[in-house]
Amino acid sequence: MRAMKNIVILISGRGSNMEAIVRAAEAERWPARIAAIISNRTDAPGLQFAAAHAIPTAVVANQDYPSRAAFDAALQSTIDGFLPDLVVLAGFMRILTEPFVAHYAGRILNIHPSLLPNFPGLATHRQALAAGVSEHGATVHFVTAELDHGPVVLQAKIPVLPGDTEHSLAMRVLQQEHIIYPRAVGMFIEGSLALQQEQGQPSTNTDESRSDHIKKDFA
Ligand code: GRF
Repeated sequence: MRAMKNIVILISGRGSNMEAIVRAAEAERWPARIAAIISNRTDAPGLQFAAAHAIPTAVVANQDYPSRAAFDAALQSTIDGFLPDLVVLAGFMRILTEPFVAHYAGRILNIHPSLLPNFPGLATHRQALAAGVSEHGATVHFVTAELDHGPVVLQAKIPVLPGDTEHSLAMRVLQQEHIIYPRAVGMFIEGSLALQQEQGQPSTNTDESRSDHIKKDFA
């Protein structure tokens, strides 16, 4: 039997992507355990879901640390206490330092609510409406030191419709996030997704998954 892999999920808030990943891990019987849910906010609603599912939780509150470096060091030691094979950022609203990102190179994923490289940063739905784009969406990517950059693993597109608001776009994009994020994490766990360090590009181990999954449009 294959060894169980440890997934550590980082959240700051609602945690709906975390929830989608936990549910997929259970439903699809991944050879993995959600080893911990870690939040930088004590009041993150997602912590309640984690506790209700008997998943260990931890809080590393950024205001308890004098600097970004000190916070990231504490966060790293808390994460490493759970022996992670994969770290999943799921609405984790912190900019991470370079040493932290380097420590998890090739084993840390993020989801961003836009079609990167379009609209990095905050208020992506507002940015999309202001730019007048006809398509919007979400991106799962490996995390690198530059915020919301890093090799793209999966993207899902939705059309921008007449009358769309930030809220309506956010809702439709979120539905897609809940499909592609569990899919990307599942691919990593089953070994069909890995970051090729030399090229800084994600690759898949089979021709099938390469053609089927990379940048697939789930709209
Ligand atoms: C999602 O839109 C995600 O793309 C972004 O933050 C939001 C988190 O939502 N990074 P949730 O906490 O997963 O519900």
